[in-house]
Amino acid sequence: MDRKEFLSQVGFGAASLLFLNCLSGCSKSADAPATPANVDFTVDLGSSANSPLANEGGYIYTNGIVVAKTVSGNYIAVSQACTHEGASVQYQTSGNRFYCPNHGSTFSTTGAVINGPATRSLAQYNVAVSGTNLRVYS
Ligand code: FES
Repeated sequence: MDRKEFLSQVGFGAASLLFLNCLSGCSKSADAPATPANVDFTVDLGSSANSPLANEGGYIYTNGIVVAKTVSGNYIAVSQACTHEGASVQYQTSGNRFYCPNHGSTFSTTGAVINGPATRSLAQYNVAVSGTNLRVYS
């Protein structure tokens, strides 16, 4: 086998794998996890477990929800699971948005889709600060 034949076979194999992977994974939007409903819980902002929320840009995952402190210092909460295939979204200070590292979908701070492949918004939850308690609720 010469170099050209090898590259041709490897290239075909890689393309085939991508195609087969896409067949099994590119149409799973309907399988994305359900968003948390009837939400009402409190995050202790004084707890070391929640220390990321002390800083602008920090975020935590709790109860299927990502709670973030935005670059402007406001708390926000949206469903954790990307509406495409369920990967955990991350808050990004650059762009002040949520980002899915799985396929690159981006969502606004209200959970609206900015860029796909996700087509459905993340659920947005209410937040209220009282002392060192942050209430997250539907
Ligand atoms: S899981 Fe595909 S973009 Fe989030």
